[in-house]
Amino acid sequence: MTPVTAVIVGAGHRAVTYASYAEQHPEELKIVGVADPIARRRNQMAHRFGFDQTHCYETADQLAQAGKIADAVINGTMDHQHVDTGIPLLEAGYDMLLEKPFATNQDEMWQLAEVAKTNDRKVMICHVLRYAPFYAAIRKLVSDGEIGQLVNVQTIEHVSYHHMGVGFVRGKWNRKDLCHSSMLMAKCCHDLDLIMWMMSGIAPARVSSFGSNMYFNEAHAPKDAGTRCMVDCPIEADCLYSAKKHYVDHPKRWAFYVWDTLEHIDNPTIEQKIESLKTTNPYGRCVWKCDNDVVDHQSVVVEFEDGCTATHNMVGGTSRPSRAIHLLGTNGEIQGVFEDSKFVLRHIDPRSGHEYSEEIIDLNEDGGDMHGAFGGHGGGDLRLVSDFVNLVRGTETSLSCTRIDDSVNGHLVGFCADDAMAQRQVIELS
Ligand SMILES: NC(=O)c1ccc[n+]([C@@H]2O[C@H](COP(=O)([O-])OP(=O)(O)OC[C@H]3O[C@@H](n4cnc5c(N)ncnc54)[C@H](O)[C@@H]3O)[C@@H](O)[C@H]2O)c1
Repeated sequence: MTPVTAVIVGAGHRAVTYASYAEQHPEELKIVGVADPIARRRNQMAHRFGFDQTHCYETADQLAQAGKIADAVINGTMDHQHVDTGIPLLEAGYDMLLEKPFATNQDEMWQLAEVAKTNDRKVMICHVLRYAPFYAAIRKLVSDGEIGQLVNVQTIEHVSYHHMGVGFVRGKWNRKDLCHSSMLMAKCCHDLDLIMWMMSGIAPARVSSFGSNMYFNEAHAPKDAGTRCMVDCPIEADCLYSAKKHYVDHPKRWAFYVWDTLEHIDNPTIEQKIESLKTTNPYGRCVWKCDNDVVDHQSVVVEFEDGCTATHNMVGGTSRPSRAIHLLGTNGEIQGVFEDSKFVLRHIDPRSGHEYSEEIIDLNEDGGDMHGAFGGHGGGDLRLVSDFVNLVRGTETSLSCTRIDDSVNGHLVGFCADDAMAQRQVIELS
């Protein structure tokens, strides 16, 4: 079979990660063009994937107007651009691998789903966790009926102190008016999607939610804290959120966000990086004195049409980054922590001398892939691209396949949870 051809739309961190699949599997995927307003990124992509300037476009619109040059696009633009960039490309006939959240409000969400349908286009949403062996194995057990009908689903996401600081306090997702996504949608639309996936299509009926920005605000700034860690802060040496500790002492951690503003320099030196943190780099700011307005913790409660309930708890600023899931069914339960790459399957055992049975399913022994060959998100990133190739080719896709229609319920619950939190109400989903 000839490889599926694709154009990168938004040559940032995410789209380039997905596109790298073409380097490992040239027989499956070939990158033939790019659309991005940043000339340096366009040139890098042309050089890396071996296409010429005639297939370099400044915007998604320009690409759409040029006529169809590939089977599909990999749309890795920012959250609020997914619909504006997506619609003309779907209308131009492209199938699409599209980053999450695929919309920033309900109207946009329905609009994009409708355009995909009327143009008969295949749109896969990058819910990469569905492809991580940990979640895929759990989903298989649930769909095989191993724990009976679900009565309650609990998910947790602990966003570590350094991830919280870089993403949601100092960084790109810290303000609703700039990125247009809430923290729940930017960070946890994956978890909401997993809950909906485990529920096998049973519709969510009502949602409530509570949360706030409790800690990352000026009222919680330590006494004497400055405004920039490496400029005017006498307590920097003792601070858990010091920009020097997070980004200079760990130069590779979150490098694709922190040194973005130095992209125009080839291999910036450590002195140039420090100078940027001292002056204009937003990641050099005190975490208690930023312009962030998104929550730092939020809890969501959902009731489904069949009476099953679910909760998701998101907490930012934790020591360990982790995701956990606990599914309780009429015939057993499944409980595990994603980062451990293993989970427990329990069954009732009413026999005399017994209470329950327990089986540990350890994916570390079986290619759990937390840091392995299939890239980030527990191996989910590149497995998802592999399934996207199957989807575009029309060959069999996996149980994890997350087409736009499959992703609507999770997004809907997220949008409604944010409304419920703001209005202090229970929202009924029609
Ligand atoms: N699936 C996941 O787990 C996951 C993880 C992190 C981020 N994301 C999501 O991925 C998306 C991209 O994030 P990122 O950090 O890679 O972004 P980025 O800022 O690195 O990349 C976005 C790119 O889009 C380009 N762009 C802007 N306007 C454009 C237009 N009109 N046409 C074409 N290109 C345009 C920008 O120049 C930039 O290069 C976001 O929606 C984010 O929420 C998903």
